[in-house]
Amino acid sequence: MSHQTVIVLDFGGQYNQLIARRVRECGVYCEVKPYTTPLEQLKAMEPIGFIFTGGPNSVYDEKAPHVDPAIFSLGVPVLGICYGCQLMAHTLGGQVTAAQEDTAREYGKTETYYDTTCKLFKGLPEQGISWMSHGDYMAKVPEGFALTAHTDACPNVAIADEARGFYGVQYHPEVNHTQHGVDMIRNFLYEVCGAVGDWTMGDYKNTAIAAIREKVGDGKVLLALSGGVDSSVAAALLAEAVGKQLTCVFVDHGLMRLNEGDEVEAAFARWDINFVRVDAETRFLLKLAGEAEPERKRKIIGEEFIRVFEEEAKKIGRVDYLVQGTIYPDVIESGAGDAAVIKSHHNVGGLPDYVDFKEIIEPLRLLFKDEVRQLGRELGLPEYLVSRQPFPGPGLAIRIIGDITKEKADTLREADAIYREEIAAAGEDKNINQYFAVLTNTRSVGVMGDGRTYDYTLALRAVTTSDFMTADWARIPYDVLDKVSTRIVNEVKGINRIVYDITSKPPATIEWE
Ligand code: XMP
Repeated sequence: MSHQTVIVLDFGGQYNQLIARRVRECGVYCEVKPYTTPLEQLKAMEPIGFIFTGGPNSVYDEKAPHVDPAIFSLGVPVLGICYGCQLMAHTLGGQVTAAQEDTAREYGKTETYYDTTCKLFKGLPEQGISWMSHGDYMAKVPEGFALTAHTDACPNVAIADEARGFYGVQYHPEVNHTQHGVDMIRNFLYEVCGAVGDWTMGDYKNTAIAAIREKVGDGKVLLALSGGVDSSVAAALLAEAVGKQLTCVFVDHGLMRLNEGDEVEAAFARWDINFVRVDAETRFLLKLAGEAEPERKRKIIGEEFIRVFEEEAKKIGRVDYLVQGTIYPDVIESGAGDAAVIKSHHNVGGLPDYVDFKEIIEPLRLLFKDEVRQLGRELGLPEYLVSRQPFPGPGLAIRIIGDITKEKADTLREADAIYREEIAAAGEDKNINQYFAVLTNTRSVGVMGDGRTYDYTLALRAVTTSDFMTADWARIPYDVLDKVSTRIVNEVKGINRIVYDITSKPPATIEWE
């Protein structure tokens, strides 16, 4: 795929992913690379610009990350952000020191004044809020640099050597708190780097399809479809590219949400592919019977999934390629080098080495999650599939506390569907990142009509989170909770009490098991 590339050089800042997102939002492809990447490797990518990220260090610390100074002789523009700005100043002969208290040390929203004759601020207001987070101060800027923005406390919050295309800002243009921050990044890309804006999802789709066709030729392709966003989008892309040569195996372990299997199958009906839906409910429930220990439940499901997949692969015969829905954050989080291969295994619950394939195809490995969703829309997948919340591989098995039976799974499915329906009807699904019901193993006494009941307690869970590593419980309006509760106890047999989970992660986890 040939498109202009910007390299975000990562110095360990917390907003690096966000910078990459912003660049792509501006229609320019970019990749995040660790600052240790050899210069030759960076050069080989033929970047039109570099963005140096922030980082936790001070440039004058002994162990602070540095760059090869030759990077400044490539004739490629550089935008340094926060630490990246200080590093550029330091490397090019400026002087960076710890800021004195009350002078140039700045955190948070700060009124900032810009020189709009500088290309970085071209066409933007002369004054606005910027988001600062730096304790260091550029006591002396390098030769050739002009001061292009200041605050009341600090005379040099932005510097520029326009002749060489070097720009530095002490604040974070990538965060929403900085007014017109994205416009500044756009100016850097278009006014300084000469970007043409050749990164659109439509282009990406077409180029990816062409590349897949070329690689696969007339070979056979296998894909384990879970119904999650990533594997669904990967499947749609492959379906579009190689049609009948693709077989999607969707293993329905009987622990899916209500109608999930049908929805996934219906979404793929428009493509002429081989779609194998394996109804494996009975064998999974048999294997799980009587097992209450959470880790054992997970293991049983993981193993059984592989067995089913193996059997199906054998039926299909020689498969040349296996497709994985690995996305860019997976690649970054797993580190460099052989990351992709490691991921390809645990991505689908430890897919076996046995399938004799030439290669693994990962068509989404350059995309962020919201880009994957965008691509899904571009490919015509329905919105409910494209925007769906995460659903764990073991499915409802880890939301039924204690041992699992078909009756319990049916009860939970029904209650969960009502919960999701009401949350969506109230428009709360826009504010909540994941929500589901849990069938606890606790039964309690109730009264319904004139009779005593002794039924299960259902827990409702809803969280807000950006990365699913930490999460807060969602403040769902009481009247929505009330409606959910009333409907479930009235409509779902076997449940007579509803509780709402008000624990964050940590100390709890999002799922109950
Ligand atoms: P926890 O419960 O660890 O969950 O806070 C964090 C996120 O991961 C999802 N999750 C899983 N996803 N296979 C998956 O594909 C799993 O075994 C699994 N367990 C948890 C969970 O739904 C939440 O989004």
